[in-house]
Amino acid sequence: MKVKSRQLMWWLAIGGAAASSFAASLVWAQSDSGSDPVAEYRAMFGDDNPAALWVMRGQGLWQEVRGPKHVALATTCDLGMGKGIIKGAYAHLPRYFADTRKVQDLDTRLLTCMVKGQGLDQAEILKNRFGDGDRKSDIEALAAYIVDASQGVPINLPMQHPEEKRAYELGKAIFFYRAGTHDFSCASCHGQSGKRIRLQSLPDLATAGKDARDTYTTWPAYRVSQGEVRTMEWRIGDCFRQQRLPELKYGSEAAIDLTMFLAKNAEGGKMAAPGLKR
Ligand code: HEC
Repeated sequence: MKVKSRQLMWWLAIGGAAASSFAASLVWAQSDSGSDPVAEYRAMFGDDNPAALWVMRGQGLWQEVRGPKHVALATTCDLGMGKGIIKGAYAHLPRYFADTRKVQDLDTRLLTCMVKGQGLDQAEILKNRFGDGDRKSDIEALAAYIVDASQGVPINLPMQHPEEKRAYELGKAIFFYRAGTHDFSCASCHGQSGKRIRLQSLPDLATAGKDARDTYTTWPAYRVSQGEVRTMEWRIGDCFRQQRLPELKYGSEAAIDLTMFLAKNAEGGKMAAPGLKR
C-alpha cells in the first residue's frame, strides 16, 4: 500500500470520531445524486486509505517478540504458507490446519498463533477483538498487515481436505437457510445483483461472479463510519444482526464456513484489501 505522509498526518489529526462525522456528511452530501458515496470518497483519496495506519501497527506486532514464550509471530506463525510467510496467505484462507485439526480463517489462525505460539491470554485478546478509539484491536491490525501482503494475488482455496469441503457445504447451507423473525436468509438480501437498501447496494454473494469477487477481495476493510479496520468476521457478524439472528459467535464454525463459501465464490478475483468501505 502506498502511503502519502501528508494525508496520513491529516487522518491522524482529525481522528476517528471526526472522520466518522465527515463520512456521515459526505453520505448526506451525495445522497441527492444517488451516486455511491464511498466511490466518491475513494476518488478523493486516490490510493490513500487510513488502513495504512493499521498495516503499520500490524507489521510491528508481527515482528515484535511478545508474550510469555518470548517469540515473534514472524518466526513462529504459520498461516498456511510456512512459518512467517504472509505473502499470498490471505488469498488461500480459510484452510485446514493439521496442528489444530480445524479449518481456520485469518482471525482464528492468528488467535492460535498468539495463544499457543506466544502464550498470550485468549480472553484478553478477544476482549479487544473489535477495536475502537481507545482500545485498539491487535487482530484487526495484524489482519490489515497480512491481507496487504496479498494485494494482487488471486483467490485460490486449497479445498482438498474433507474438512475444507465440509466447511464449504455447511457455509452454503447457512447462506441459504431462512431464519429469524423476518424469515430472511443471507440470500434474501444478497441473492441477486443490483439490489439496494436505502443507499447501500447489496452485492450478489450467492453465486460465483463479479459481485462476489469485488466484495471478498476488498475485506478486511477500513470502515469510514467506524474509523476502524474490520475483518470478515465482523462483517458477517453485522449481517447476522441485519438478519435479526442471535449474535454470531466470533471465531465460530458458522463464521468460518460462511467465509469459506464467500471465498469460493470469489475465486480468481485478485486481492485488493485492505479496502475502504462506508
Ligand atoms: C436484511 C438484509 C441483509 C441480510 C439478511 C444479510 N445482509 Fe449482508 N449486507 C446487508 C447490507 C445493507 C450491507 C451493506 C452494509 C454496509 O455498508 O454497512 C451488507 C453487506 C454485506 C457484505 C459486505 C459487502 C461489501 O460490499 O463489502 C457481506 C460480505 C455480507 N453482507 C454478507 C452477508 C452474509 C454472509 C449474510 C448472511 C449471514 C448476510 N450478509 C445477510 C444486508 C443484509
